[in-house]
Amino acid sequence: MTRSPLTLHLAAPRGFCAGVDRAIRIVELALEKWGAPIYVRHEIVHNRTVVDALRAKGAVFVEEVHEAPADRPIVFSAHGVARSVPEEAAARNMIQVDATCPLVTKVHIEAARHHAEGLQLVMIGHTGHPETVGTMGQLPPGEVLLVEDVADVARLEVRDPDRLAFVTQTTLSVDDTADIVAALQARFPAISGPAREDICYATTNRQMAVKAMAPSCDAILVVGAPNSSNSRRLVEVARKAGCPYAQLIQTAAEIDWRALEGVRSLGLTAGASAPEELVNEVIDACRLRHDVTVRPVVTAEENIEFKVPRILREPA
Ligand code: F3S
Repeated sequence: MTRSPLTLHLAAPRGFCAGVDRAIRIVELALEKWGAPIYVRHEIVHNRTVVDALRAKGAVFVEEVHEAPADRPIVFSAHGVARSVPEEAAARNMIQVDATCPLVTKVHIEAARHHAEGLQLVMIGHTGHPETVGTMGQLPPGEVLLVEDVADVARLEVRDPDRLAFVTQTTLSVDDTADIVAALQARFPAISGPAREDICYATTNRQMAVKAMAPSCDAILVVGAPNSSNSRRLVEVARKAGCPYAQLIQTAAEIDWRALEGVRSLGLTAGASAPEELVNEVIDACRLRHDVTVRPVVTAEENIEFKVPRILREPA
């Protein structure tokens, strides 16, 4: 039987970002330094394959600090945590290691600076996402107003329209956020904010690559978890950029081959927390059914690396 041809457009950059890479290294180094078990508050990054691999090495995932014994080290996830979290760990005299991505920490610092200057803060982000909870939790409860879309901006009730600042989640849609920022600036011309929004380089680059390939793809597969904000945004970007079908898959086993019937040009990318091995499994699955030609779509080069915290660079 002759297999049908398939052009596979492979987005680059895709997959792991520097913050995810660092967070995983932090858990591995903590296991080397202190032995198992190491407790990790929340999924270190939003990916089941990554979490399962670390669990097999001795990491124990909990949702709250009090679920971990006080005599074992605890790692905070890449998404960042509210101030109350390290305070609780300190009150229990726990060894704590912060795997918050430095680009999220930068937003925490911005938020605290605006608050210290007496500005009321607006955060553009998704309700309940751990990063949003962590950033809002840098300030006292009730101090940060959350907006998710342009309609929320119209409903905002602020203390003083001339004393406002905004920050954003790092993993939002670049285009949707630009619209929300424009709405904020139209309604509150004096609002302060970052020169660009706080969306990180990795989120921006992965969206750019998908936008570039979307017009030439019949379908796009995004490898990523349903709770991964940046992965879900890639699916939306693919659709908005004109690709008729885009699907989020955690592994190759989730590919809906029926939906891909007749597809001759398939795009493939991965969210910032998805390991490359999962992308390779998708390529292998395509090769089993089709005569595949891989076409890289390279829109940016990335060479960013973040150092791990000092506590992991010092001997035990
Ligand atoms: Fe950091 Fe952006 Fe990755 S904020 S964890 S570099 S997706």
